[in-house]
Amino acid sequence: MERIVVTGGAVLEGEVEVPGAKNSVLKLMAASLLAEGRTVLRDVPGIVDVRIMAELLRRLGCVVEHDAAARTCAIDVPAEVGHRADYELVRAMRASISVLGPLTARVGRADVAVPGGDAIGSRGLDLHVEGLRAMGADVHVDHGYLVTEAPAGGLRGAEVALAFPSVGATENLLMAAVLARGRTVLSGVAREPEIDDLVDLLLAMGARISGRGGSELVVDGVDALSPAEHAVVPDRVVAGTWAYAAAITGGRVHVRGARPEHLVMALDKLREAGAEVEPTGTGILVQGPDRPRPVDVATLPYPGFPTDLQPFALALAAVADGSCVVTENLFEARFRFAHELERLGADLVVDGHHVLVRGRPGLSAAPVEASDIRAGAALVVAALRAEGTTAVHGVGHVDRGYEDVVAALRGLGADVRREVVEPAEALLPVD
Ligand code: EPU
Repeated sequence: MERIVVTGGAVLEGEVEVPGAKNSVLKLMAASLLAEGRTVLRDVPGIVDVRIMAELLRRLGCVVEHDAAARTCAIDVPAEVGHRADYELVRAMRASISVLGPLTARVGRADVAVPGGDAIGSRGLDLHVEGLRAMGADVHVDHGYLVTEAPAGGLRGAEVALAFPSVGATENLLMAAVLARGRTVLSGVAREPEIDDLVDLLLAMGARISGRGGSELVVDGVDALSPAEHAVVPDRVVAGTWAYAAAITGGRVHVRGARPEHLVMALDKLREAGAEVEPTGTGILVQGPDRPRPVDVATLPYPGFPTDLQPFALALAAVADGSCVVTENLFEARFRFAHELERLGADLVVDGHHVLVRGRPGLSAAPVEASDIRAGAALVVAALRAEGTTAVHGVGHVDRGYEDVVAALRGLGADVRREVVEPAEALLPVD
């Protein structure tokens, strides 16, 4: 078992680099399935989820070369692609579901295990299913697998209005529509920068899509697409992680590669809390306050406050000079993190999808456990403000979305290490 051990008290100073976005690259890799030949992605992050998606593509018949040092991923897609995404991969990573649209469109069939992935709430697939059905697919569940079958002659264009701007459903339906016969109008779609990134790759592959960046996408299906080369958009959640880490520790960090236009709400909240945030042309410079002011935060689909940064807002609130309310509107189970934060001494009350936080000058060390990617990273960041030495368990979650959080934090002056311990030893206090 591995854990990250953090000795609190560091004020983060220096520079960190933001790689390409996890939540974009995984969908871009899935999109490569739409065209026979070699698609090349650049600025690919060296994270576990990319390795899982690479394995999924290999099992579908692709040859995948992921060069972590060069940050590239080359995917050779054969003429005949498989159609099954196994349970073990989908269980490890819910984003495996994003092969559903491309496989249904290109192969005419997909068998994708019903996902588990991280433990942040029951995340439905009804919008994915309704959209594919509207395009003529037969969709049913068989032995824990979601099975789609396109009609003879392939998917056909349709008008699909999403009842909620689901990121995953928008991506799957877009990837299905680019090879469907005729015009598809997708309305009420998600507007995250990662959707724009997917649209950009699909356009480079020869797709016909208009409405990029808006809440309605119009897609005119084409007979075939060609492979393309594409650089992944920088990861706004990783950038936000470092910005909040600077603010929480009262430090000064240049977040190189961060795109401030993708983080408007998250950076506004940091400024409200007393941080100075300056775009630098190559990223953002964040100077944290001595003690943050309390700020209410409510998560919403983009361009609202991102749910993926909610744990960091909560960690900031935990050391603020006053009380505030943090509201989670997207994933109900994300407050499992709040209870771990309580173990570090945070004063909070969870009530449904709200948390009332009474800030304290500092936190205190305790053993804590990550329940998902962002919770894990936020516990590491919160531990920087905790007196004593904190062991964060469940670091496998962190590796799914962050390249080498320990090296990055050490580069910023933090006292952090990663260690392998025997399972029984993991229960004992840190030396
Ligand atoms: N939902 C439905 N039915 C659907 C689709 C979604 O009810 O058919 C509900 C879900 O249950 C959930 C909400 O809608 O409550 C949001 O789901 P959405 O489809 O928008 O999110 P996602 O595609 O499952 C992606 C990111 C998440 C991020 C959310 C919201 C990836 C791989 N994951 O998930 O990222 O939190 O969008 O922005 O892109 C993370 O990176 O740690 C992470 C969890």
